[in-house]
This record gives sequence, structure tokens and C-alpha cells, in this order.
Amino acid sequence: MFGARCLLRALRSCSSAPCPRHKPSAKLSVRDALGAQNASGERVKVQGWIRSVRSQKEVLFLHVNDGSSLESLQVVADSSFDSRELAFGSSVEVQGQLVKSLSKRQNVELKAEKIEVVGNCDAKDSGFVHIHTPVITSNDCEGAGELFQVKPSSKIKVPEENFFNVPVFLTVSGQLHLEVMSGAFTQVFTFGPTFRAENSQSRRHLAEFYMVEAEISFLESLQDLMQVMEGLFKTTTMTVLSNCPEDVELCHKFIAPGQKDRLEHMLKNNFLIISYTEAVEILKQASQNFTFTPEWGADLHTEHEKYLVKHCGDIPVFVINYPLALKPFYMRDNEDSPQHTVAAVDLLVPGVGELFGGSLREERYHFLEQQLARSGLTEAYQWYLDLRRFGSVPHGGFGMGFERYLQCILGIDNIKDVIPFPRFTHSCLL
Ligand code: 4AD
Ligand code: MG
Repeated sequence: MFGARCLLRALRSCSSAPCPRHKPSAKLSVRDALGAQNASGERVKVQGWIRSVRSQKEVLFLHVNDGSSLESLQVVADSSFDSRELAFGSSVEVQGQLVKSLSKRQNVELKAEKIEVVGNCDAKDSGFVHIHTPVITSNDCEGAGELFQVKPSSKIKVPEENFFNVPVFLTVSGQLHLEVMSGAFTQVFTFGPTFRAENSQSRRHLAEFYMVEAEISFLESLQDLMQVMEGLFKTTTMTVLSNCPEDVELCHKFIAPGQKDRLEHMLKNNFLIISYTEAVEILKQASQNFTFTPEWGADLHTEHEKYLVKHCGDIPVFVINYPLALKPFYMRDNEDSPQHTVAAVDLLVPGVGELFGGSLREERYHFLEQQLARSGLTEAYQWYLDLRRFGSVPHGGFGMGFERYLQCILGIDNIKDVIPFPRFTHSCLL
């Protein structure tokens, strides 16, 4: 993921050695370049990450930032420099002349003579900014009440009854915080531990698991969201296969024979899409007897998910548009009476069942207000409602369980075998 990589690179490039006072033709930080008083053609070198690219007929404009300044440095290059590698997120070293800018927007700009791409940034994952969402939170994003409450141990003296004045919990999802940040950065993601007090010892539930979550502003259709989900699954899997083939092979050979072919089958086919209503119809027509009788309005259980994936030829399948009553308050109303569904999407995969859960978010103030009232959350989620009052945009996102992802690609039956210290009901060793 570009954001985490860039952050680490930026941190690594912080040297404790004293910075030399800039000499002409020396390496300059973006901050120093922008602050140069008499830019009159000195040769300089600037290193940083591309924040924007504007390609015109004869010139190419890049905005480069190295974290030393909020403002980016404008690099002006001849259009012959234009290349696919000069994309948002790529790290570059630019050499050229620092000159006075003709535009009023900046004092100086760098006229490029040489541009070297230090590390390119795959266009598929570009633009996602890594956000560290909090582990301790006062919200219950999923509204399912599967929360672990956090309190100081009794030995600690706290002035108030509650340390934070309000009840707080371990996060079940960073989504709501991502929604805040997507209002500033358009495309954001988080990757961190998530906690759920689900009373389950099943082979796909943990009380503490990792989740990758993404949130995208100006996103208007489930189709666009599913494209990002499928892209994430496929590019990540291809990267894992090419970077650590021996490890994957070991699992495939000794734990899950045949998994290699099953995975290739998933990678080479387009994922399928069915609606929840179609899924229920398929299940009703199945010859198999289910423990939970499938009917419209009821949740899909593991046995149903397994059947649906088999029915779809062991290709991952997106199930979309679930009944509003089954899903959390934040999902976008499809206004499709009499059924009344929301724009939700779950991705079901062979061997695991649900791997991703996502939705379009309800960005319309009055709809969200109604949903919050229905769930009795109006007061606690006033801040969330306020996001819809100040420049609200259509948006959506998803979360993918990391351990379930490992189960899926490695063919490992039990989730407790893909994590060194599994936590689940009645078990928290070490
Ligand atoms: O479907 P879920 O509950 O979705 C959310 O939490 C959304 N707020 C995400 C978002 O839109 N940003 O959880 C997402 C995924 C599931 O599809 C599953 O893979 C995983 O998280 N997951 C679990 N993995 C292991 N153990 C559990 N108890 C899990 N619960 C969910
Ligand atoms: Mg879910």
C-alpha cells in the first residue's frame, strides 16, 4: 500500500545529521526550495513524492513534496519527460534550475533537466492515504453490540467515574473515522487490529483480528466499489505469489493440495455479482437441506454462503443489496419499496465464505437522520450526522478480514492456524 510505504520512506529519510546550509547546485528540501529568495537559475536537486501530475501538449507540471512543507514544489518539464511512471505517489529525484515562477500561485518553480523515478507507484493502489484509526473508541460502528468495554484497572485512581467521561470500547471497525478523513483526502485506508466480543468458536471467527478498510469519496455506485475490492484481492494475491512463492507453495503442498489451482481459478475469472434476492432464490431452489431455512429478510449463514460459492463454480461472488433491516445504520437506502434494501456488498469466497463487507454510505442528511433514529443513536452520532451537513459527498468503502484472506489464499481451514496468538471465547493464551 502506497501510503504506508511512503510514510516509512519519509521516516527513513529523516537523518539526524545536521543539514548543510544550502549551497547552489546542492540537494534542497522542498521547504528550502520554496523559500529561496532570489531564484535565478541555480542548479538544484530535489527529492520527494509526486502529489499531482498535469500533462499539457508541450509541458508537464508535477507537484513534488518531501514532507518538509505543506506546500508542494512545482516542477515544470518538457513534455518529452512524460511517462506512465511519473504518477501520483511515485518517488522522484529532480535536477534542474530553480527559477522565478510566471504564475502568481508560487514564487519559484523547478525547471527540470533530469527526472529520475526512484520508486514507482502502481496506479492501481495510488491515491490511498494511510490513516491510523484509533483502537479505543466511543462508537459502535457496526451497531451490533459486540463490544469489549475498556476501563482502567481498579488500582488506578481516576478523578471521574469514567476515565474518558464516556463509556469506551475497543474498535470493531475504523470505518467511521475513515469517513471523517475521506472528507480531506478523498481515498483513505487503515490496517489495524479489530475486536469483537462474538460468542463464537467457529473456524472463521476471532475476538481479535486485523482488518484492511478503505473509504472512497465521490464514489456513486456499488459497481465502482466492487472493482476496487476485486482489484485489491487480485493485486495483493499476485504480489504475495510473486514475492514469496516458496511460503505459499509450502502451504499448498502440505496443507491444502489443489489450492494452487483453486486460487488460479479465482484469479483468472471475473468475480460474479448476484443480488441478495437472487441469492435467496438460489438457496430456496437448492436440493440441499439447510439447518437455517433460507427466506427473504433472514441473514445468510455460513452454510448458505458455502452453497452460493459452489453454485457459482467456486468463483468469488459479490452479493449485493441486502434488506435494510439486516444491516447497520450507515448503509445507503436503495428506496426500492416494497422490499426496501440498502446498497450493501459482501464478497463470498471459496473455503471461507464472507471475506469482505462494504457498502455505499448514506450521505443524505435526512435519510441518515431517520436511520439513526430507528437505531436509537441520534444523540451519540450527532458528529457523524454533522459530516452530512458540511459538503457531504457520495462515498463508500469496505473492510477485508486479514486472517480470512490468508485462509482463502493459503487454503487453511481454521482461522486459528493463520495467527500466532489467536483470541476467541474462553481462550486468551499468553
Ligand atoms: O462485514 P464487517 O463487519 O464490516 C465492517 O466492519 C465494515 N465497517 C467495514 C467497512 O465497510 N469499512 O467486517 C469486515 C470483514 C468481514 O467480511 C470479515 O472478513 C472480517 O472483517 N471479520 C472477521 N474476521 C475474523 N473474525 C471475526 N470475528 C470477524 N468479523 C468480521
Ligand atoms: Mg459483514
